[in-house]
Amino acid sequence: MYETIKSPINYGGLELKNRIIFAPTSMGLRREELFERFKKIAAGGCAMIIIGDVPVLPQKFIPSLYTKKGMEFYKSLADIVHQEGCMLCAQLHQSDSNFKGMLKYVPGVITKRISADELRSIMNQQVGPYITNLPITKIQEITEAFGNAAELALESGFDMVQVHGDRMCGSFSSAVFNHRTDLYGGSPENRARFAVEAVSAIRRRLPDVPIDYKLAVRQENPHYGNTGVLESELPIFVPILEKAGVTSFHVTLANHGKLSDTIPPKTHPEFSAEGCFLKFCDDVRKLTDLPVCAVGGLTDPDFIDEQIKSRRIDCAAMSRQLIADPQWPDKIFNYRVDEINRCIRCNKECLGGMMSHRGVHCIYERK
Ligand SMILES: Cc1cc2nc3c(=O)[nH]c(=O)nc-3n(C[C@H](O)[C@H](O)[C@H](O)COP(=O)(O)O)c2cc1C
Repeated sequence: MYETIKSPINYGGLELKNRIIFAPTSMGLRREELFERFKKIAAGGCAMIIIGDVPVLPQKFIPSLYTKKGMEFYKSLADIVHQEGCMLCAQLHQSDSNFKGMLKYVPGVITKRISADELRSIMNQQVGPYITNLPITKIQEITEAFGNAAELALESGFDMVQVHGDRMCGSFSSAVFNHRTDLYGGSPENRARFAVEAVSAIRRRLPDVPIDYKLAVRQENPHYGNTGVLESELPIFVPILEKAGVTSFHVTLANHGKLSDTIPPKTHPEFSAEGCFLKFCDDVRKLTDLPVCAVGGLTDPDFIDEQIKSRRIDCAAMSRQLIADPQWPDKIFNYRVDEINRCIRCNKECLGGMMSHRGVHCIYERK
């Protein structure tokens, strides 16, 4: 049953036991609950879990690869996931928010003169100036940190890394935010330089590590997504990223400021369909022979099997579906498709839980 989904794949150098990947998903859960969640997802039969937003520079509030405590956290996570026969990938991430510049708004937030939505909007408005004015020394410190962080990630038990091509890589890539006039701005080649240097820093230190790239694509007519790469710019970005050392592409709509576009609900005006971002995978497929992984509204095993069989994609990543039912892979491989809790993309407890600081859950947990 579903032999295509079940078939192993060499994913940029790493052997995956099947084609299902848990997409990077920040959970906002405490350690015990978080580990329990990842154990369930790994035990449910997916081939690899991507841990979202692993910071490339030292961090105080998120487990950091640069501290003993942070390393212990990731090692424990790797043990739990590996015990279930699942691989682990670190999504290496650098925010494009100017946190120092935001400090002056803290009193307004504390006294509730500024709402959370207003704060988010101010933060988004600052991305362009922040990216445009970031000193070259700081850029080089950050791109080098991708290399450091990748080494530490492997040391702590991760099997591979993904470069988060949204956020800072994506903002540098995008003419919407990047108004620099130096080597890092202007032409698409220059806007790709930050991402290329980040990937190269990893490749220089780790010649054999598989490097996945979360390729954030933005669409015109109608306009969706602000960070990342225009569809028309993909013929420039994809080959230079591949040349720098990328070994697979995880393709999605670019984000910025509007999470409901990258995590689209069933009611979304443009991206309501099953496999809503597959058309971007088609663009990428034409430009590379590297494995292409789709993400976005993938829930239906027949549909996914067909996309892989026809070589439209090589792997399918899921976030919300595996939160709704971590056993999705095991159920489809063992003739239990009717028992799947199908994600209805309501976004109530997953994205909703994250936005209201309740942690990521699912409406099925209430049943
Ligand atoms: C609660 C939540 C948190 C997420 N956190 C991240 C993240 O840390 N990094 C990332 O690149 N994408 C993140 N995503 C986006 C997912 O990886 C995925 O691209 C998106 O949810 C669409 O896939 P889906 O339809 O399978 O949910 C998150 C999604 C959800 C629902």
